[in-house]
Formats: sequence, C-alpha cells, structure tokens
Amino acid sequence: MEPERFPPGERNPVLETLLAHRSTRRYRDAPLPAAALDLILTAAQRAPTSSNLQSYSIVVVDDRELLERMCRLCGSQRFVAECSALLVFCSDITRHIHVCESRGYVYRGDHVNTLLVAHGDANLACQNASIAAQSMGLGTCMLGNVRNDPQGVSDLLGLPRYVYASVGLAVGYPAEDLGVRPRLPRRVVVSRNRYSDDHLAEDLAAYDEAMRRTGIYDGRREPLNDVAPGTPDPVPDAAYGWAEHTARRLGGENQLQRRGLGAFLDAKGFSRR
Ligand SMILES: Cc1cc2nc3c(=O)[nH]c(=O)nc-3n(C[C@H](O)[C@H](O)[C@H](O)COP(=O)(O)O)c2cc1C
Repeated sequence: MEPERFPPGERNPVLETLLAHRSTRRYRDAPLPAAALDLILTAAQRAPTSSNLQSYSIVVVDDRELLERMCRLCGSQRFVAECSALLVFCSDITRHIHVCESRGYVYRGDHVNTLLVAHGDANLACQNASIAAQSMGLGTCMLGNVRNDPQGVSDLLGLPRYVYASVGLAVGYPAEDLGVRPRLPRRVVVSRNRYSDDHLAEDLAAYDEAMRRTGIYDGRREPLNDVAPGTPDPVPDAAYGWAEHTARRLGGENQLQRRGLGAFLDAKGFSRR
C-alpha cells in the first residue's frame, strides 16, 4: 500500500511531532514495551547515513544498576538513571577496518573526515530515534554528557578501539510537560543566498526576552566565571537571558573537562589529521 502523502505547505502529523519537540528530563518508572523499542531502533537505522557506511552502533542500556553508573559518569543528571532506557549512539568504524583488512586492503580512512562522518551518522540516527519515540507519546532527552568521561563510558559499555560514545538518548514515559522552548529568531539562523548576521544584537535581545519569559533562568543561573567565591552577581534578573547564560557556560570551568577529548579520540583510532 502506498504511504499517505500530505499536501506541501500544510501541517501534518509528522510535522506536528517535529514542531512539538521538547526535551524531557523527568520520567515515570515504567519499562519500555519491546514493540516500542523495536520501532525506535528501526527508525534509527532508517536515518540517512554518509556513503551508506552506517558508521555507528547503538548500545541499549536498560539495566538499573548500569543506568545509575551511566548517570554518575554523565554529569549526574538524574533523568539518566530514571529513564526507561538510555540508547547510546556510538561512532563505530570497526566494520570498515574489518572489510578492508580481511581483504588485504590498506585502510585509508584515518583522517578527520571519518570522525565527522561517524559522529554525524550517530547523531542522525539518534534524532530519528528521538522523533520516533516522541511520535508515540514517549519523552526523550539527548545526552552529550556521554563525552564528559569518555574513557569511563567506554570501559562501562565495553566499547573497543574504533568505537566511542557520540551521544545518548534517554527514552521513557514523561513525568513533566514543559512546553516547547523558544528558538532563536528565524533571521539569526537563516539567510538567503549569502550569509548574514546583520540584526544579531537586536534579535538576541528579543530572544533573551522570550527565554526569560519561560522562567527557565529563575533560580538557575550559571556561576560567574573567574571571580572570587561569594562575589555578588552584578547582572540583574531583567538582563539575565540566553546570551548571558550561554556566555557563562562557554566560559565556564566545565568546558575544561572536554579538553582531553582529542587525545581520547586519537587513542580510539579516530584521527584528527
Ligand atoms: C547533541 C545534543 C546533546 C545534548 N546533551 C544534553 C545533555 O547532556 N544533558 C541535557 O540535559 N540535555 C542535553 N541536550 C538537550 C538540549 O539541552 C536541548 O535540546 C536544548 O536545551 C533545547 O531544548 P529542547 O530540546 O527542549 O527544545 C542535548 C541536545 C543535543 C542536540
């Protein structure tokens, strides 16, 4: 049977799922039905993949003890321990090495493009899985924090050389409904035919206002960078928005944690050359 097609330019159920996206960080304690997980994984594997290389593997973590340990390794966000399953999307080039070596060919993919391709593939599969889960009313949250302690995650999940955790996806039954989070104004992100950031300052100010109105920063400020402990925060509530929050995050100590990632990737066999 031909799948149903929707008229161009009109909203449809696929778009409704995409447009309703929000990350879920609180879950009910309930197992994922096997049929749901099966469809989520099927959708993940249907994602486009660079050169059909399928440079990723997925580790499904649904053992409570393992989820607790993943939680500790990944920034201690409780939703990691409390979700029904954590899908770990790993960049994986073992199969490529295997097909080359088993035929006596020299593997020449040891350059940075391989790293980008595999990481991209893993994230595309992750997004497909996320949308599939959300289309069934499940909640999801991606987890870049799988790269906080890449060696710890690698050891815990038994990831060999040529495999590293690119991104995680928590899946479960939502125990919160926060509504969609505002996005940057369209013209900040999209330009036509030639790149433009002409209206950046005013558009960021408008976005700050939209984000403040959600209440997301109430009692949830990033600490000031490079100041003595106890220094009063000079930024009033009316000026604390996405720009201030983001600047503090990107200038914060936690960025230093990722400094070792390059050497880790080299050791895993993902060259940065
Ligand atoms: C690649 C990627 C990694 C992410 N990693 C985390 C994470 O480690 N922890 C977390 O709480 N949220 C994580 N998120 C979710 C983002 O914080 C979230 O998508 C963003 O704040 C926008 O909110 P929304 O998804 O509700 O619209 C990640 C999202 C992406 C795309």
